[in-house]
Amino acid sequence: MYSSKTMSKILLICFTLFVSYGEGAKILGVFMYPSISHQLVFQPIWKELSLRGHQVTIITPNPLKDPSLTNLTEIDVSFTYNKPAVKNPMRYVKKEQRSLTKVRAIFDVFMELFEEEMQSAGVQELLNKKDEKFDLFIVQISHYGNVFLPFANKYNTPVVGISSLGAFLHTHDVLGNPTHPVISPDILLGLSENMSFLERLNTFLYNISYRIYYYWVLLPEADKFSRKYFGDDIPYLGELDKNLSLVMLSANPLIHPPRPNVPNIININQLNVKEKKPLPKDIQEFLDSSPEGVIYFSLGSNVRSSSLSQELRKEIIGALAELPYKVIWKWEEDHLPNQPKNVMVRKWLPQQDILGHPNVKVFFMQGGLQSIEETINNEVPLVGMPFFTDQPANLRKIEELGMGLMIDHVSLTKDKLKAALLEVAQNKKYKENVIKGKAIINDQPMKGVEKAVWWIEYVLRHNGAKHLRSAAADMSFYNYFMVDVVLFLLACVILTVYIVMKIAKTFMKKPRKLKKN
Ligand SMILES: *[C@@H]1O[C@H](CO)[C@@H](O)[C@H](O)[C@H]1NC(C)=O
Ligand SMILES: *[C@@H]1O[C@H](CO)[C@@H](O)[C@H](O)[C@H]1NC(C)=O
Ligand SMILES: *[C@@H]1O[C@H](CO)[C@@H](O)[C@H](O)[C@H]1NC(C)=O
Ligand SMILES: *[C@@H]1O[C@H](CO)[C@@H](O)[C@H](O)[C@H]1NC(C)=O
Repeated sequence: MYSSKTMSKILLICFTLFVSYGEGAKILGVFMYPSISHQLVFQPIWKELSLRGHQVTIITPNPLKDPSLTNLTEIDVSFTYNKPAVKNPMRYVKKEQRSLTKVRAIFDVFMELFEEEMQSAGVQELLNKKDEKFDLFIVQISHYGNVFLPFANKYNTPVVGISSLGAFLHTHDVLGNPTHPVISPDILLGLSENMSFLERLNTFLYNISYRIYYYWVLLPEADKFSRKYFGDDIPYLGELDKNLSLVMLSANPLIHPPRPNVPNIININQLNVKEKKPLPKDIQEFLDSSPEGVIYFSLGSNVRSSSLSQELRKEIIGALAELPYKVIWKWEEDHLPNQPKNVMVRKWLPQQDILGHPNVKVFFMQGGLQSIEETINNEVPLVGMPFFTDQPANLRKIEELGMGLMIDHVSLTKDKLKAALLEVAQNKKYKENVIKGKAIINDQPMKGVEKAVWWIEYVLRHNGAKHLRSAAADMSFYNYFMVDVVLFLLACVILTVYIVMKIAKTFMKKPRKLKKN
């Protein structure tokens, strides 16, 4: 009936239909935390997914707003940037606070953001769409992002969690990932691999106290928040957690200590590393005209240098003014009081392109992972002044690797800072170590967006990844720690000792009796 030509045409059409159905999934993503340095890690993922033909809907405070991305719908929750807790996180997470106090502060911020975002018009519209369907849910899993998991339940989809940092202990628990307190201490503790006795005691106790606090206090609270927006008939949040197919954690092969991971924990890195773009003219000229060298100074996006204390700022300005170099400083206000002559300030700076300029000698930074990856990629050594979360741990590692120096902002003085900047700028060993490190980081079979997107599509292809799930994830406490086995063996030992003693007693008694006779 049909000529072979039409047949093959029909086959071709069938094939393309099949392929586009097979490839183009509907994906919902929530990247909830208003912090550009974190969102910069996620943006390339949702962009790439949409370019690969998936229909992507993303709730984010940093929409790309790129009209050429026709398969992408972004629900803008950028109003969350105006929250006081987001604007000045240092007020909430103080260095000297006890770990669980910090946990509480972070949790409260996340719940507040959750509520505000759920109430926003865009999210409400999505929730009220009657026959909306999705094939996959992606969620920013760091900290307490799991409060959004009922979305996956609502749309009956598998879940992929992504973090621009590592993960808190409870996220490792969800997948049954080992969390040895000394080998893999929690990121919040900021401990190095070489711990003192007190540090080991601390991480051991935190291992236990965090879990008691999380499972008995925070998780039930988060569950209540979830119910408020998703209705009372959703399963307990702790149950929904178990539906995580994969968790992608930002783990740099150089900066993060190696840790044993179950196969559904995927390490991602360098998502933020971008192709070079030309610099704005004024910055290009400033850098070109500074053959003596330039220090690039930025505390990232979470620590605004304009919110540093007066005294600290005075010391920093004093040090920068005395340097034999020029300085580019990301300063978020119009005017910098007492601005030294060698310092240029801008509210926003194209960080990677600046670091790529050959005259940049040192990056003076706060120790954020993404900034560290960007500076290593551009072969610039660094001086770090950590404030919170993973920053102290990252910088301790940088010091160990000889890629830069760490200074403490509490005891910082003009002279200390000046000495550190001069040392890193002038001693060649720092740059050499950065170049060695770059070679290691880049030597991976798959990295960056390519790897992240491959694993997301892997979950899509198999509608979840149950086969990667470790049995440890669903085991009871006594089963995992073999409490019953240990108790049984202990009972055997006690019984044996008891019997042996009994026998010995009877044997010892006999000769005595004999003697008497
Ligand atoms: C949108 O998705 C379709 C397939 O669903 C794909 O062919 C097209 O290239 C995508 N467009 C863009 C701009 O990503
Ligand atoms: C877990 O996900 C599967 C689909 O992957 C779904 O069928 C199931 O209902 C989900 N379970 C919960 C508790 O949401
Ligand atoms: C830990 O300390 C030991 C001895 O002090 C040292 O040999 C080792 O290199 C240190 N390890 C790290 C990762 O710093
Ligand atoms: C810390 O807790 C986790 C999970 O309960 C466990 O796997 C680990 O062995 C614990 N470590 C110690 C020393 O308590």
